[in-house]
Amino acid sequence: MTVQAFYDDFASRYHLVYEDWNASIARQGAALDALLQEFFPGQRSVYDVAVGIGTQSLGLARRDYDVVGSDLSTGSVQRATHEAHARGLTLPLFVADFRHLPVAAASVPVLLCCDNALPHLASAEAILATLREWYACVRPDGGCLISMRDYGAPPPVGTVEDRPYGERTWNGRRYHLRQRWRWQGAWYETALEMTALDGDHQDLPPITTSYLAITPAQVAALLAEAGFTSVRQLDRRFFQPVLIRFKPPVP
Ligand SMILES: C[S@@+](CC[C@H](N)C(=O)[O-])C[C@H]1O[C@@H](n2cnc3c(N)ncnc32)[C@H](O)[C@@H]1O
Repeated sequence: MTVQAFYDDFASRYHLVYEDWNASIARQGAALDALLQEFFPGQRSVYDVAVGIGTQSLGLARRDYDVVGSDLSTGSVQRATHEAHARGLTLPLFVADFRHLPVAAASVPVLLCCDNALPHLASAEAILATLREWYACVRPDGGCLISMRDYGAPPPVGTVEDRPYGERTWNGRRYHLRQRWRWQGAWYETALEMTALDGDHQDLPPITTSYLAITPAQVAALLAEAGFTSVRQLDRRFFQPVLIRFKPPVP
């Protein structure tokens, strides 16, 4: 299953990864607002290159940021568009692969990529090429903010780990939602499973995608190789470690 097909399938249910998606939108918006104003004072324009269904962008738009968002998944962009309209928020959105952003060079004030979207790329080389592309798109004196999972050393090939989210209601039915990770070395396949909790309906077919288990420290090194300066890794300011990097001003 491609990353795009995974998120297209998941888009209508993606909010279920949060116990209360609206509360998470508000919480993440507040946390990102604080980070942006601390590291990019006065800056209120961001480009979210992995907008998904809008968890971060809706929260920032609600806080009067000028947000533009894009994503590989058409289904996610459609859902985010619907969610923005439903909340009366202005949030221009389009479909784009963040490896090749359709924006002018040196035009993006702050580029945002949250919730482990970058490690969907299959190798450190692919991530470095993407960070070089982002560097070219970001304005001098601008920067980027990335949030991602932190991983320890990968366990042996074949190790299976379950990550339960708990009980969720979908279309009036109760399910148990979990991710099942199957380790393949430096990367793992993750299956998103929704198991029916009541006898009168069936489990939903699992959907699968993969992640490279690259660490924030490794991505920080790649950011530096791409040209970004002034590494900041912040571990307790967001629900995941955050990397903030700057593009130096033109001398
Ligand atoms: C875990 S979701 C996070 C979405 C969003 N940031 C949120 O928290 O609601 C990862 C997102 O990255 C997007 N994505 C993965 N690879 C991408 C690529 N090459 N270009 C653009 N988006 C991509 C997926 O489509 C998905 O929407």
